[in-house]
Amino acid sequence: MSRILVTGATGRLGQLIVERLVAQNRTVRILTRRPEAARDLFGATVQIFAGEFADRISLDAATQGVDRLLLLSPISERLAADQIVVADAAQAAGVRRIVKISGSDWTIDPPGLSISGDAHAAVEQYLRRLAIDSVSLRPNAWMQVSLANTIRQVLVGNPISVANPEAGVGYIDARDIADVAVHQLLDEKVSSTPLNLTGPEIVTPRQIASLLSTVLKRPVALVERPPSALTPDADFEHRAVAQFGCLIAAGRAAVTTGVVASLLGRPSRSIEAFISEQLAIEAALAG
Ligand SMILES: NC(=O)c1ccc[n+]([C@@H]2O[C@H](COP(=O)([O-])OP(=O)(O)OC[C@H]3O[C@@H](n4cnc5c(N)ncnc54)[C@H](OP(=O)(O)O)[C@@H]3O)[C@@H](O)[C@H]2O)c1
Repeated sequence: MSRILVTGATGRLGQLIVERLVAQNRTVRILTRRPEAARDLFGATVQIFAGEFADRISLDAATQGVDRLLLLSPISERLAADQIVVADAAQAAGVRRIVKISGSDWTIDPPGLSISGDAHAAVEQYLRRLAIDSVSLRPNAWMQVSLANTIRQVLVGNPISVANPEAGVGYIDARDIADVAVHQLLDEKVSSTPLNLTGPEIVTPRQIASLLSTVLKRPVALVERPPSALTPDADFEHRAVAQFGCLIAAGRAAVTTGVVASLLGRPSRSIEAFISEQLAIEAALAG
């Protein structure tokens, strides 16, 4: 059975992808700077290779004997360079397929509006030139990140504070991204174009406030604030996040596609279901 290497495996999305591959009895290898933490997470279910993107020797070792690669790295100034060096190591090792976790479609197209989207676009272009099958997954904003944070804020009594209460987002549940990633890793062939992944519906902050008011049986306040100002010394990640905020406030993330449903043969997970689950998790943590 072919071996699959996952980078970013100990992170939010990577863990979900590894769990799914292991549940299907796939041979999974991961690359991590923190082998002990990885052992705590995955036990003996995966092969753990200690290494990092800046260490080509560790990349050559990790890609040896690998057939498929799930390529994920965090938003950073080094995103493009890191992912390109992993792709080079994969090509040298004879890897046959790369599934890349890319940026949201609205950060990539049109170019020049997001430093993070532009970095992902550079990697996508590089992958297209390699003699390896590859596909880029472009997920919309994840429910598990900004929406989960909004719910936590509301539960501690804070209002929902946004630049534009009417700017919707086609949030996607990260479990759906993981399901699509596994599908593209294991299917006979990959999509020939980038996959724009979204949830089933667009919700605005005003609608989220209303949904939460109904479930919590109390009013949830919504306040409008100016977009976050950046200090001149802000690092890459903070600049990227500030740009996401501006693009979302301009309505760019108000997109849904049927890609998850058409690939997986079932609807993508809904916002209502995520909110109920998240409230149950927070209640269990508090109790
Ligand atoms: N959140 C969203 O709404 C959203 C939307 C679209 C796209 N994305 C994309 O999703 C990606 C982030 O995914 P995530 O949130 O799951 O990541 P994350 O939780 O921040 O995890 C980062 C992972 O990268 C690994 N890593 C970091 N630096 C490394 C290095 N130098 N060498 C080797 N491994 C390294 C870490 O492993 P160790 O610490 O174990 O080494 C960890 O597993 C980004 O590319 C982002 O653009 C996110």
